[in-house]
Amino acid sequence: MKPKLINLAVFASGQGSNFSAIAKAVKQGRIKAQLKVLVCDNPQAPVVKRAQVARVQVVLVQREDFSSRLEFEAAIIQKLNNYKIDLIVLAGFMRLLSPVFVKRYRNRIMNIHPSLLPVFKGAHAIKDAFDSKAKVTGVTVHFVDEKVDHGPVILQQRIRVGEKDTLISLEKRIHSVEHKLYPKAIKLVIANKIKSSRLN
Ligand code: GRF
Repeated sequence: MKPKLINLAVFASGQGSNFSAIAKAVKQGRIKAQLKVLVCDNPQAPVVKRAQVARVQVVLVQREDFSSRLEFEAAIIQKLNNYKIDLIVLAGFMRLLSPVFVKRYRNRIMNIHPSLLPVFKGAHAIKDAFDSKAKVTGVTVHFVDEKVDHGPVILQQRIRVGEKDTLISLEKRIHSVEHKLYPKAIKLVIANKIKSSRLN
């Protein structure tokens, strides 16, 4: 009998380049899972089109349609239950998940952040690293806990900031590292092979 495949949900709000990298890795069998659904809170986001092209179901949930975050998340949880989701992958999802949500899916929510956490937390990590003239920055994939950009690290990769780097060239290099690192980290989590998970 074939082993049951893990069911993945990707949450995203924006461009979706990480979504596409993950969808490609699933399609090519590098990630042994089923990408069941994209959860998106912005109907105008380019990631929606990417999901349609990749033939992945899209669930649109807009915060303004609900009177509280609890109700908004309850609607998401219901969808996740319908799709029997085992693992949630945040890829540029621009909403904070409540402690109740995080607790429910403890160690089953992953996130990618464009810096070497714990440095440069927040929504402008690449620019902050560039502006501060850091010589090294990077990418972190971690499990999500109750704090923002925080939780056990799964994988990190360092990236040197060269003297000739512009903000644009640095962004490009960081994104191309992300597109390799995230599928690799998801694969490790699915195979239960995370050797060192430390708290940042
Ligand atoms: C990435 O840089 C990721 O690290 C951060 O949000 C960005 C999403 O980019 N959390 P994309 O939408 O996947 O292109």
